[in-house]
Amino acid sequence: MYLKKLELKNYRNYSYVNLNFDKNTILILGNNGNGKTNLLESIYYLSTGRSHRTYSQDEIIKWGSDYSIIKALIGSEKNNGIDHLIEIELRKENNIKIRVDKIYQRKKSDFISMLPSVIFSPDDLKIVKSGPSDRRNFLDSILEKLDWKYYRQRLQYQKILVQRSSLIKSISGRAGAASNSTLEVWNDNIVRYGTDIIEKRYRLLAEFRDEFRSYVNSFFKGVEVDLFYVFSWDRGDNLDEYTDYFNAKSYKKENFIENNLKDIFYRKLIESLQKDLLYKTTTVGPHRDDFIILLNGKNIRSFGSQGQQRVASISLKLCELDILRKRIKKDPILLLDDVFSELDIERRKLLVKAVSDRFQTFVTTTNISYLDKLDLEFGNKLLIKDNKIAVSNL
Ligand SMILES: Nc1ncnc2c1ncn2[C@@H]1O[C@H](COP(=O)(O)OP(=O)(O)OP(=O)(O)O)[C@@H](O)[C@H]1O
Ligand SMILES: [Mg+2]
Repeated sequence: MYLKKLELKNYRNYSYVNLNFDKNTILILGNNGNGKTNLLESIYYLSTGRSHRTYSQDEIIKWGSDYSIIKALIGSEKNNGIDHLIEIELRKENNIKIRVDKIYQRKKSDFISMLPSVIFSPDDLKIVKSGPSDRRNFLDSILEKLDWKYYRQRLQYQKILVQRSSLIKSISGRAGAASNSTLEVWNDNIVRYGTDIIEKRYRLLAEFRDEFRSYVNSFFKGVEVDLFYVFSWDRGDNLDEYTDYFNAKSYKKENFIENNLKDIFYRKLIESLQKDLLYKTTTVGPHRDDFIILLNGKNIRSFGSQGQQRVASISLKLCELDILRKRIKKDPILLLDDVFSELDIERRKLLVKAVSDRFQTFVTTTNISYLDKLDLEFGNKLLIKDNKIAVSNL
C-alpha cells in the first residue's frame, strides 16, 4: 500500500495542506517546531485511528478550530490498482468519524489494517530505556494494529484489575480475608482475561526473538544479544536483579505456554495474596509483565551505551515492520522521524539498507547533511516553513 494523496484541514499547526506523493522515499525538511512530526502523525492517524504520541484527540485539532479532517487516497500495487479514499473527521471530546470510500466505519476494527504503518521516532528510545510500561505499550501497540479486539480486551482487563485491587484494599487488615468469596470471583476474572493478554504478548516476542538478534548483530557485529519475556511473578523489585536470574537459569521457557499458563497464573495469584494485602494492590498479572534485552549478558537498560540502546530500539521497530507485513500481508508505510541524527554514519547506512526500496518511506530531518552519503533516492522533497509545506527543489 502507499499514500498517494494527503489532505489536512485544521490539523495541529496546519490550516490546510494538500499533497501528492509517489511511491518513492519522501524527504521532509524543516527546522525544529515547524510541523514535521505533525505531518507524520497525521499519516499514522490514517493507519491506526489514533496518534502515536498522545491519547488526547482534542490536542490534534488546530487551536481555535472545533474540528480537524484527514483525508487520503491510498493506492495499491496489487488489487488491479484500485484506490481507496479514507476520511477521518475529528471533533472535540473524542468524537471521531471514519469513512472508507464514503462508507461510514462503525468499528475501528473494520478499517485498522487498511494502511499499516510503522513510525520510528526519537521517543522509541523509551522502549529500551524507560520503565516496563513503555515496553508493554510497545507490544500492545503492535497487537492492536494486528487485531483491534486486543484493545478492548485490555480495557476489560483493566476494569477487572481496578475492581480486584479495590477489593484487596478494602479487606486488607481484616481477619479472614483469605476466604473472601468475592475475591475468588475476581481472581477467576483476572486469570480469565489476563491469560490471553500474556499469551499474545509472549508469542509476539517469541516471534521477534531471532530476527531481533540478527538485526542488532547487523548493526553491531559480534555482540551477544538476547530478548526475553518477563512474567510478573518472575520480576524482582530491582530491575537489574533479573539479569542474573536469566543468566543463571538460561531462561528457556519456549514450552511455557504449552505448560498451561492459566494454572500457573492462578497459582501465582493465590500465592501472592499476602503480598497483595500488604501492598494493597494486585502484584501479579500482565499489568506488571515486562521484557528484558541482554547485551553481552547485561541489561541493556542500565549498561548499554546510548547508541547501543538506540540500535536496540530501532531493531525492535524493524521487527514490528516485518511482523505487520507478514501478518497483514501488505507493505506498511514507513515513517522515519528524525532517526538519523543520533546514529553514526556506518549505522545510518545500515538502517537505510534494512529499509530502502521495500516500502514507501517518509523521512524527516532538520538538516539535509544527516542524509549525506546515504543511498537514499528521494521522489518528493518537501520543505516546511511558517506552517506551510512547499515542494522543494533541493
Ligand atoms: N493543536 C495544535 N494547533 C496548532 N499548533 C499546534 C497544535 N499542536 C501542536 N502545535 C504546534 O506544532 C508545532 C510542533 O510541531 P512538530 O512537533 O511537528 O515539530 P517538528 O518539526 O517535528 O519539530 P522538531 O524538529 O523539534 O521535532 C509546535 O510549534 C506546536 O506549537
Ligand atoms: Mg519532531
